Amino acid sequence: MPQNTQQKYSLIEHLLFPPTRLNASKLKNQLNGKVVLITGASYGIGENLSRLLAHTNAHLILVGRTTEKLIEVQKSIQNEGGSAEIFPVDLRNDDEIQSLIRHLNALPRLDVFVNNAGKSIRRPLVESLDRYHDFSRTMAINYEAPVKLMLALLPQLQKSQGHVINISAINVLMAPAPYWAAYQASKTAFDQWFRSATPEIEHLKINTSIIYLPLVKTRMIAPTSSYDKMPAMTPEHVAKIIGKCIVNKKRIHKPWWSFFGELGSVLFRRTWARMARNRIKSSR
Ligand SMILES: NC(=O)c1ccc[n+]([C@@H]2O[C@H](COP(=O)([O-])OP(=O)(O)OC[C@H]3O[C@@H](n4cnc5c(N)ncnc54)[C@H](OP(=O)(O)O)[C@@H]3O)[C@@H](O)[C@H]2O)c1
Repeated sequence: MPQNTQQKYSLIEHLLFPPTRLNASKLKNQLNGKVVLITGASYGIGENLSRLLAHTNAHLILVGRTTEKLIEVQKSIQNEGGSAEIFPVDLRNDDEIQSLIRHLNALPRLDVFVNNAGKSIRRPLVESLDRYHDFSRTMAINYEAPVKLMLALLPQLQKSQGHVINISAINVLMAPAPYWAAYQASKTAFDQWFRSATPEIEHLKINTSIIYLPLVKTRMIAPTSSYDKMPAMTPEHVAKIIGKCIVNKKRIHKPWWSFFGELGSVLFRRTWARMARNRIKSSR
């Protein structure tokens, strides 16, 4: 199990992202004999979570599009003594997601669903005039796919009194930023869906958690050069947070400082909107 997920942090990152103490034996006990579905297990946060859970006795179902990468993750889990199967699928494709659902519903049990697969796009509107697909594709993966999976898996999760963990972004709690309309709208849509459905899901005795993440150093943020020098978590650290959430079933996890951002988004809404307009003007 990775020992120190913070070795790569700067001083400011240490302050923003304090260490997460994960009790490995509690995680192991919690997942003993359980089945865990992780979407987006081929890269980034999902890959790191899968590698972390290799040290438990859970059976992992790894979902993503990139078969070679899923095989690589599966092999490394098996080398560590863990158990995993892969299911390569494009979650935006209805036929493919239905075949995944049939497979999952035929399993004897399903205990934990980590809704992690996602796609971000940063693009100015003026460069998107002939790119409606940017908006429909982000909705398909970030909103429609998890809704379809949730609806299909509720009976299984109810039977096992399971746990759903939604990997969200702190952006959805704060004032939106220009250029991010496609990502922001799709992540916010599922966040709203999930929060609205939570009392009904919990009534079925299924635990729910939402993890609101700040920037994380994965390939998702690599194309945005302005993020290069911004504080960001490591995906190993995020995996530990998810692991801890599996143990303590915390309903909402967000960085300690997100409260100030949320408050600022309300109090300084107009200032933020003016700054956004000025930014667009100066970039022309
Ligand atoms: N990185 C950040 O700064 C950040 C911040 C806040 C929240 N998040 C959230 O964290 C989650 C994981 O992101 P990440 O940073 O780990 O990004 P990542 O490294 O790009 O990983 C995304 C994962 O989602 C899978 N995926 C994407 N489209 C898919 C599709 N159509 N069908 C099936 N699988 C698909 C990818 O696999 P394939 O490419 O193999 O399909 C990959 O395994 C996302 O929900 C994201 O919104 C990330």
